[in-house]
Amino acid sequence: MAETRVRPYRASTDFRAVLDAQCDLYALNFPRFVCTPQFVAEQGARLRQAARRPYEHQLFVLDDGGQVVGFIWTVIRMDLQGAFGSVDQIYLQPPYRGRHLGELLLDAAHHHLRTAGVNYVRLFVTDSNAGAVQLYRRTGYEIIRLEMERPL
Ligand SMILES: CC(C)(COP(=O)(O)OP(=O)(O)OC[C@H]1O[C@@H](n2cnc3c(N)ncnc32)[C@H](O)[C@@H]1OP(=O)(O)O)[C@@H](O)C(=O)NCCC(=O)NCCS
Repeated sequence: MAETRVRPYRASTDFRAVLDAQCDLYALNFPRFVCTPQFVAEQGARLRQAARRPYEHQLFVLDDGGQVVGFIWTVIRMDLQGAFGSVDQIYLQPPYRGRHLGELLLDAAHHHLRTAGVNYVRLFVTDSNAGAVQLYRRTGYEIIRLEMERPL
């Protein structure tokens, strides 16, 4: 019986699924983004490096009967206010969106970050990504800074 569950990322089996999602994830959130082989190679290198630094980087995947159908990528960073957790990426394949499954990934990320000893979690979201903004608001995120842009 197939089961949908969140589990820690395993580089040996999950690398390809996370890498394959990168262009879609960026295209959905950055309207002028162009997916190039160089971008994919750089994301692959970043992902390999993350697997070698498990204190700072932790990914979880949504596994549906053995298939990776989504993931979340957390990073622990430092800034002028001290250590904080960051949700660098969250992604669900299209058939899995709009079913509140993102919340399962966020729950795993929050639990991991709390256990690692950080007290705050931050993320960036594109304002026009209404589903993502709604998910974050529902799970307790508030706007603390705004990035603004205008054409020249
Ligand atoms: C963003 C994402 C992680 C949200 O996870 P999710 O499990 O699909 O989110 P939810 O099911 O909780 O949906 C969030 C809200 O958006 C609404 N929504 C769902 N699908 C939507 C869609 N296609 N368009 C607009 N709104 C949508 C839902 O009604 C829901 O509102 P509700 O709280 O009133 O039910 C997921 O949609 C995704 O992977 N998107 C592509 C990658 C991406 O953009 N990642 C975010 C980068 S910041």
